[in-house]
Amino acid sequence: MSLIKPSRLRRTVSIRSLVRETRLSIDNLIRPIFVTHRNKCLEIESMPGQFYYPLDEIEKTIEGSIKLGINGIILFGIPSSKDEIGTDTIRENGIIQKAVKKIRGSFPELIIVTDVCFCQYTTHGHCGILNHNGDIDIISSLKQVQKQALSHADAGVDFVSPSCMIDGMVQHIRESLDNNGFEDRGILSYAVKYGSAFYGPFRDAVDSSPKDGDRKTYQMDPGNIREALKEAHLDEAEGADIIMVKPALPYLDVIREVKNQLSCPVAAYQVSGEYSMIKAAAQNHWIDEEESMIESLLGIKRAGADIIITYFADAVAKIIRSRCY
Ligand code: PBG
Repeated sequence: MSLIKPSRLRRTVSIRSLVRETRLSIDNLIRPIFVTHRNKCLEIESMPGQFYYPLDEIEKTIEGSIKLGINGIILFGIPSSKDEIGTDTIRENGIIQKAVKKIRGSFPELIIVTDVCFCQYTTHGHCGILNHNGDIDIISSLKQVQKQALSHADAGVDFVSPSCMIDGMVQHIRESLDNNGFEDRGILSYAVKYGSAFYGPFRDAVDSSPKDGDRKTYQMDPGNIREALKEAHLDEAEGADIIMVKPALPYLDVIREVKNQLSCPVAAYQVSGEYSMIKAAAQNHWIDEEESMIESLLGIKRAGADIIITYFADAVAKIIRSRCY
């Protein structure tokens, strides 16, 4: 016979709930979505449960998220062709521009964020325009970043999210948005982006691994936190509205410190590798998927994240609606 009577057990649960310090909220979640020109919805091999959505099906899946209470999405595009300078990033008919116009037309209230980068749009797979030596050319990359941000704003996004880690990108984007009548659009900066192995499944998904060299020259060393704080302060000073730390779970101390030191909201990106590890272990029955998902997200929130970008957004929203976290 159990020592705890069922009625006592119920009270224990409610007392735990009464004194709980950290709770997940659907309001803080952003769902990443991959959009393609293909005409079929295809599961992403390296990210079980995530799909490439054709333009025709994008509204249907977003509607599902909205019904669960999700308020925001971040879009990643798979272009039909790549070139040296990532021309698709600035085309009026580029994959992102088409998707944003469609989504904005159907969901006027939805918060739409777009990744502003080049890696999945360029043949070399780097996050900017390269010079003759194969290094990132800062001046021409910044010009292209401005054009890309403007074309996303024109299509109807609320936040552009530059992830190319080029010094000055936030200031340049802010200036060009303001000078073109987009003062009301925000910048969610990937200010603190580590050179991480946890982007592996994403790079497979969007075929964006650099063809030569790696991104370590412009992504941060996992051993550094002071450098991360410097980047975050710089981006805030340049006009970022939200500062992102990416990945999330290996960098909880960084999230906490950014939260303590800055006044703008902090977003944490639970990246593809963090997602796929949980999915893979759960598929092998090595861990409980639901419990480990909630525990990892609670950790990210407890560390100080105001906003969490997660591939689990829909799944966690379903759980939050049915229980109290
Ligand atoms: C760059 C970008 C990457 C991710 C988001 N934006 C890849 C990278 O920086 O190499 C990774 C997201 C994830 O792993 O889920 N466009």
